[in-house]
Amino acid sequence: MEVENNNNTQLPANTSEKCPEKRKATFDDKPLEIKRLKEDCSEVETTSRPPPQSPKKRLQLDGKTQNNRTKRNKDLNFLYGNYKHYYGKRILDKDFHDIRLDVLGTQPELFRDKQLLDIGCNSGHLSIEICKKFNAKSLVGLDIDRGLVKDAQMTISSLKHLTPPGSRFPYNVKFLHGNYVLDDDVLLEIERPQFDVILCLSVTKWIHLNFCDAGLKQAFRRMFLQLRPDGKLILEPQSFDGYRRRKKISENIRENYNSIKFRPDQFPEYLLSPEVGFASMELMGIPEHCKTGFKRPIQIFKKV
Ligand SMILES: C[S@@+](CC[C@H](N)C(=O)[O-])C[C@H]1O[C@@H](n2cnc3c(N)ncnc32)[C@H](O)[C@@H]1O
Repeated sequence: MEVENNNNTQLPANTSEKCPEKRKATFDDKPLEIKRLKEDCSEVETTSRPPPQSPKKRLQLDGKTQNNRTKRNKDLNFLYGNYKHYYGKRILDKDFHDIRLDVLGTQPELFRDKQLLDIGCNSGHLSIEICKKFNAKSLVGLDIDRGLVKDAQMTISSLKHLTPPGSRFPYNVKFLHGNYVLDDDVLLEIERPQFDVILCLSVTKWIHLNFCDAGLKQAFRRMFLQLRPDGKLILEPQSFDGYRRRKKISENIRENYNSIKFRPDQFPEYLLSPEVGFASMELMGIPEHCKTGFKRPIQIFKKV
């Protein structure tokens, strides 16, 4: 099956594109920042030299700065929630069972012989399990992180080596690299229905923090357009409480966080509004995860 990814396959260079009102401030303020920095430095050099410190104290201070810098740089690698070893942290069962499969398994007919899209598939662990366990016709996993997609592709290649050709699984799974958020809303006009089920699990927070309200709303409209009649969107949104901790990742994310007006508790209203068009919503269940933060409601939105 040909999958339309009329989008790009590159990580966006500057995600503030999606938040034009903020973009202006970022660029306009820069010369001022540099100027201020220069002024500060000259002041330090000429007037207020720090008091002399013992070598031990200096080392401690250096160590502290270094740690902060390392932590910030590390966070910058995960701007999109594109954690490596995500499943190692999230799945605490010794048999590596993702507890969300129990909730999805309450309606296995949703997936059987269906064509699925998994947005933000990470390294593909859950996508592969869903496709195999529920005997889907096909699954496409899409992720913004090229490295994670490569990992997922490698897993599928090794599964293929273990499976005779002619079997449906794992030959019906593919992973693509790309940003689900389109560069321009006008591209929505060429979207066509091509999936029976779209999974969007623990991804909304990251789309929201990087592409603001406009980017997330566009993604919701795209999901609707890509679903066939009677299609289902399976959504596991993060709560807004969890956004606050992430705003420290970068200045850009902090600004985006501050601009958010569209809260997760308003998602159903928007998805069911004429602007998107879903006909109904039902709560599929809440996974019995031992960590409260992962007890996220899984909702089903139906298209008529
Ligand atoms: C927290 S992980 C969730 C992984 C998986 N959906 C799950 O629930 O097990 C979020 C994933 O979404 C991906 N992601 C974030 N923004 C994205 C975007 N705009 N387009 C595609 N993938 C995105 C990240 O790279 C990351 O792998």
